Formats: sequence, C-alpha cells, structure tokens
Amino acid sequence: MCGIVGYTGPREAGPILIEGLRRLEYRGYDSAGIALVSEAGDLFVEKKAGKLANLQTAIADRTPSAAIGLAHTRWATHGRPNDLNAHPHQDCTGAITVIHNGIIENFRELRDGLEARGHTLTSETDTEAIAHLVEEAYAGDLADAVRAALRQCEGAYAIAVMHRGETDRLVGARQNVPLVVGLGDGEAFLASDVAAILAHTRRVLFLEEGDVVDLRPWGATITNVEGAPRERAETLVDWSPEAAEKGGYDHFMLKEIHEQPDALRQSLAGRVSTSGRIHAPEVAALTEAFRRVTRVELVACGTASYAALVGAAAIQDWTGLPARVTVGSEFRYSPPPLDENTLVIAVTQSGETADTIAPTRWAREQGCPIVAVTNTVGSAITREANAVMFLQAGPEIAVAASKTFVTQVTTLIVLAAAIAKARGSLGLEQELELGQALRALPEAAARALELAKDVPAMAERYLGARGFMFIGRGYTLPGALEGALKLKEVSYIHAEGYAAGELKHGPISLLDLECPLVAVATRSRVYDKLISNVMEGRARDARVIAVATEGDQGIGRIADDVVWVPETHEALSPVLAVIPLQLFAYYTAVARGNDVDQPRNLAKSVTVE
Ligand code: F6R
Repeated sequence: MCGIVGYTGPREAGPILIEGLRRLEYRGYDSAGIALVSEAGDLFVEKKAGKLANLQTAIADRTPSAAIGLAHTRWATHGRPNDLNAHPHQDCTGAITVIHNGIIENFRELRDGLEARGHTLTSETDTEAIAHLVEEAYAGDLADAVRAALRQCEGAYAIAVMHRGETDRLVGARQNVPLVVGLGDGEAFLASDVAAILAHTRRVLFLEEGDVVDLRPWGATITNVEGAPRERAETLVDWSPEAAEKGGYDHFMLKEIHEQPDALRQSLAGRVSTSGRIHAPEVAALTEAFRRVTRVELVACGTASYAALVGAAAIQDWTGLPARVTVGSEFRYSPPPLDENTLVIAVTQSGETADTIAPTRWAREQGCPIVAVTNTVGSAITREANAVMFLQAGPEIAVAASKTFVTQVTTLIVLAAAIAKARGSLGLEQELELGQALRALPEAAARALELAKDVPAMAERYLGARGFMFIGRGYTLPGALEGALKLKEVSYIHAEGYAAGELKHGPISLLDLECPLVAVATRSRVYDKLISNVMEGRARDARVIAVATEGDQGIGRIADDVVWVPETHEALSPVLAVIPLQLFAYYTAVARGNDVDQPRNLAKSVTVE
C-alpha cells in the first residue's frame, strides 16, 4: 500500500506535494519520491529510501519552481526498498513519469516484452513497465497513451502519470486500489485518499474500478480504459484531516477491518490466475525441499499463530505430512526435533517479533529449509528465511491485527497448495476449486461486511456479559480462537477460545446466563458435531451467538443471535467467519470507552522475548 499525490495548477507544486505525502506517510514509508515539471518543460526528480524526512532533506533549498508534479510514498512489494526502486519512474526518453500503488500481475511478461523491443528498465519494479508502455503508445495525447498502456496491464493499480511536454495535464487511473480527484479553484489534485488534499479542497470525485481521469487545472474528464465516457458525481467531504487519515472511520481498527476485501485482493494478486491455477513464485526455489521434507513445523505468536493453524491443517490435509504449530516462546526452548527434512514456516506480520525470530534462527542453524510469511519488506525475519512470501496487506496501524490475519490465512493457503503441488498430492480439480474460491474471496469478504450490519446493536445487547466462550471445530477453530483474542485485547472482557469438543471436559462449568457461547458454526465436515456441542452449552442457559453460513436454515432454532457469512471453501472459512467477530470486539470496546487502536499493555511489534 503506497501513497500517491499529484498537483496541477497555478501554485508551487513542490510544497503542496510534500505536505500531501506527509498526510499519506501512514500508508508506507520505505521510500519517498517527487517529480516536478517547470512551465518550460524541465523535469526534476528526487527519490530517497526511508522516511519522507530523507526526501525533504535531499530537496531542501533546491526544489525548482513547478506548476505540476507527482509524489509518492512507497510500501515495497516488488523490488527492495532502496533509492533505485523508489517512485517516480520514467520511460527511456525521460518524458513520461509514473507513480503507482498496487501490483501489476503480468509485469514479468510486460518487462520481458519491453526489453525485447529495446527498452532499458533501470529498476526492479512492476511500475517502471507502465512508463515504457505509455512511451510506446504516446502519439501526442497522454490520456490516450495511458489507456493503451493499461489495456495491456493485469492486476491492481492506482497510477498517476505526467508528460514533460504537457505541462498542465495529469492522467490517473484506478483498478481495485483507491484514487480520488480533488477539484479546487483553478487547480486540481490526485491522491490515494482525501487526507492528502483536504487542506486545499473538499470537492472530491471518488474514482471507481476501471476509471481513467484526464485532469487539468480547470476540470476532469473520466473514461474507461477503452475511452468511453464515464460520469462521477462530485462529493463535498466534511471530514477533519485526522478523520481523513482514517478514511472517515473513527479508528484505524475499523478502517482496517473494512479494508479487508482490498487487502485480500492485493494479497492474492499474482498468486491465482483467472482459471484458478495457484502460483507461489517466491518459493519456487524450494520445490526440491518441499518434495524431500517429512514434517512441517510452523512457528508464530498470537494472531499469527491462529492463522498458522489454518496453514498447518491445509498442509496436513493436502500433503499427508505431519504439520503443527508451536508458539514462538515455547518452540525456542522446547524445540521439536529439527533437521534438513523439517520445513519450518515462520508467520509474523511485523517480521520483528523476537519470540518468532529466535526459534526460526535456531531452526536455520539446524539446517531446516525456512519460509517466512510476513507483511514487512526488509524485516528481521526475511534475513532468516530461504524464501519469503509477503502478505501485501498494506501497513496495519491498529495494534489489534485484522487485515493481516485474513491475508496470513490466504498466503498460507497458497503456500500449502504450492507444497502439495510440488509433492504431486494436489490434483488439478482440487487446485482449481481452491483457486476459484480464493478469487471469489475479496467479494465474499465485502459481503460479510455488509451482512454484519447488526453487529453494533448485538454488541450493545451483550455488554453486561461476565465473559465469553468462543468455540469451533476443525477449520472453524482458528476463527474462534482469533475472535476470542480480539475481544479480550480490545474490550478487556475475558474471552476463551476453545475446541468445541473440549467444552464438556471442563470449561462448560463456566457457562450460564452471564457467559454466552460464541459458536463459529460455518459449514464444515464437522458441522453436526459442533452443533451438538452448542446444544450442550445451551442446556446450561448460555445465550448463543452463531456465525453461520448463509442459507443455513436450522441454526436460527438454536442460536439467540446469528451473523451470516457467505459460503466459501472450508479451508478459507476462517477468513469470512472472523469478520463479524472483529466487528463484535471493536463495537464492544467502543461501547466500553476503550482506546481501541492502542489497547492498554500492548505493542504492535513485540521485540523482546
Ligand atoms: C493480536 C496481535 C498479536 C500479534 C502477535 C504477533 O491482535 O496483533 O497477537 O499477532 O504479537 O505479532 P507478529 O505477527 O508481528 O509476529
């Protein structure tokens, strides 16, 4: 998730763009860059790895006068976070400048084609390919050239483009990644979100999928990539700058919960083809190791360990290899037997969790092949691994994890499929069924958010509860564990996550009118067994909240409250089931007046053992 800002108008572009970047820095800060064009058509570009302050130092006292420009703050996906890969990027002639947020999935083919046609690409990025495609298509009209370039691109993007010879014109486009247009008095803006432009205008056009905007200081013309006109209504935004950074939501946690469809889309980009084939090019070099290993050990903490449970179940199901999860703090000092035939998978959002890094390092020293699954490019865990799969979920600001849980699950599912494919244990039909379910998942997550509209009222109804018991079985258990963790960490109400069948072995004694049962009862192979466990709780007067699959006719008879989620592949069900539970935790915490984004006693990255 990167931040984009562009300006065209009579004022000095440089300071406006730098101020815009400052507002967008929460979206990522691996590098920052700016490109400015003077009225005479002179181009100035500066880009620096690291935070915006590095760029500001580099351009202090030498920012040229310019009435048009683009600026970018990067959160690395393709290519290391260094000066070279920082945006903006140019074509061979230096006339075209591009900034981009998102992932161009077919970038390898595009780059190969461009190089074969004589272009010289200087960075490792997917973005640079766009600049060269625009160069090839340019015949005097930038918007036409951008549309022609985009017709060759697959994936998710928000881009902003300018041409040195067209000194009042910006072209922007959006596909599954946000981009807004700001309309001022004789000036215009492009930005990833309104936070970047709110100081200058409140008149905004929210672009939609497939829109291309041709922007001049006096107005915007919108088309699709084929050039057919599109209309977008102007919105008057009345958010404060602080609210705008949170996308209009009251807290980052709520924003990040609602970002999950987009986070899933970004995370899956390049990993599932339109036909449903599943790819994990990042681990291709480990194919031999995947064939050789006899066991799989996953190591992680907290939320990441619950996502790892889904990964372990899928690996075991699809390969027959024993696969288990051990929390990092136990793994290091009571390690399982480790050797070159044990595949170790370290799962960590931050990539900096000491409890996860230490055992991973230990496993590496024992000769284990290691895959890291993390959200953070350049983080410590990436140096311990033979291969890294990035979540591509964008920065998560709220301490309580949400979008990184769902993208950890999908990334691990893709990894599980890659291991099974390498071992020849995942048939084509099974792969395509899973691939299609993955492709449908972002839309299903959006629907799960819609279906959860009654959760705030439900949270109010259960505010007096003494504690909550969350239960699940098989693939629904990790969702129950994560739901309980979310509730306790932000609401400070005790909640336990338990294997449903274990209730009767002890914790059932906790259940009464004041201790409701939250059953993750989505469709699964063990649905009937789980329902029997719910009935056991109900018989002890516990009120029952069920998360159930749409169309489940029977659940209403045994649950006091039902929250519906769409049907999906069983292995992916925790992704959807967790959404209403995240919202339940959030609204409970808000009703109790807690600091939702920074709950007491917690830290986003736990770098001590
Ligand atoms: C819960 C939460 C924590 C983290 C855990 C591991 O919402 O965020 O439980 O999941 O501290 O952190 P990472 O994934 O950064 O290793």
